Amino acid sequence: MPGEVQRGLEDVVALESRICFIDGREGRLLYRGYDIRDLAAHATFEEVAYLLWHGRLPTAAELGELKRQLEALRSVPDELVRELYELPMGANPMDVLRTAVSALAIYEPEQAGPGPSSIGGAQHLTAALPTILGAYHRRRMQLPDLVPRPGLSHAAYLVYALLNREPTELEARAVEVALILHADHDLNASTFAARVTASTLSDLYSAVTSAVGALKGPLHGGANERVVELLEEIGTPEKVEGAVRAKLARHERIMGFGHRVYKVEDPRATILREWSRRLGEAKGNLRYYRLLEKMVEVVHREKGLYPNLDLYSGSVYTLLGVPIDLFTPVFAASRVVGWTAHVLEEYDDLRLIRPVSRYVGPTDLVYAPVGERS
Ligand code: ACO
Repeated sequence: MPGEVQRGLEDVVALESRICFIDGREGRLLYRGYDIRDLAAHATFEEVAYLLWHGRLPTAAELGELKRQLEALRSVPDELVRELYELPMGANPMDVLRTAVSALAIYEPEQAGPGPSSIGGAQHLTAALPTILGAYHRRRMQLPDLVPRPGLSHAAYLVYALLNREPTELEARAVEVALILHADHDLNASTFAARVTASTLSDLYSAVTSAVGALKGPLHGGANERVVELLEEIGTPEKVEGAVRAKLARHERIMGFGHRVYKVEDPRATILREWSRRLGEAKGNLRYYRLLEKMVEVVHREKGLYPNLDLYSGSVYTLLGVPIDLFTPVFAASRVVGWTAHVLEEYDDLRLIRPVSRYVGPTDLVYAPVGERS
């Protein structure tokens, strides 16, 4: 018989992993044993990707090789680009991304795995997500089509692909830090979705397609979009208090606050807050930063909740000029590294993930032919 129901699988330990450690009480986050604060201060996104996939930091030669590989893997089949151009230009970019990841599998079945060859798929998906997003976004905005731009880091290429301009050094580092902070987070909903799919011995691209679908939801990756929408709606710091209190009185959630695992401030939020301020200062626009600081004060006082990563990511992207509906796709462009690291780990130590439910429905109903039902 099934035991106690843990709604939302809260606090359920589903598997053993060597990828990511979260201490929700102390506000600590480690990737493969390295503190996120160290990685955000010193590492590149490519180094973090290597770390998550391979379990250790790369040597200089290995890092150089990975950078070359990622740059070489940025292109996607022409047929896929044509398919992207055929999609409705008003589509939700997360739907576009999910469709493209799913379609990419058809063009490269040998990379999809499952098995050790999936590392090729992991690298291609990571390298190609900015290209997919850039190709679609540029077309819908009537910007010039995306053409290769050699020599850019992954973070700088993401900005170039989306915005048709190279970032400044400060912008590139802000994006790189945001990518590092989003790269993995243990068994969050989208990673769990990826692992469930991989655990059936399905392929890597199917697992990532599942993950993109899970990330789309506003309780997960979609929260940062709602944060910026709320900031635009509120407008000025003086109006924050009234707006937040009114939302709480209506029992509405304030996006960007609270977390299933962290009982203190999300350490990623602490780091990104600083980048939101630095970028705001550099651009002479501290409006978002000031609104956010006021929100943090009011939400904590009224509800005892702390900010999560999503509170600050939207302000960083907005200051760069990234449109709101690309925030979650940018999240995906980073988290794909974590998803694929978890899928590789799942293939390595496979056990079909198949929980049970406690059935609470009726058990003694008798079938009646359709004509006899009222
Ligand atoms: N705003 C208002 N109240 C909140 C919020 C919030 N953001 N978060 C939690 N609460 C309240 C709940 O209403 C509930 O209050 P109650 O006990 O009075 O009913 C209490 O806090 C506990 O909430 P739960 O939903 O049980 O907590 P859970 O662990 O499921 O919540 C979650 C985690 C879903 C992230 C939640 O905090 C939330 O909805 N936050 C807003 C969405 C968000 O920012 N998501 C991004 C997460 S981080 C990421 O994906 C990178």
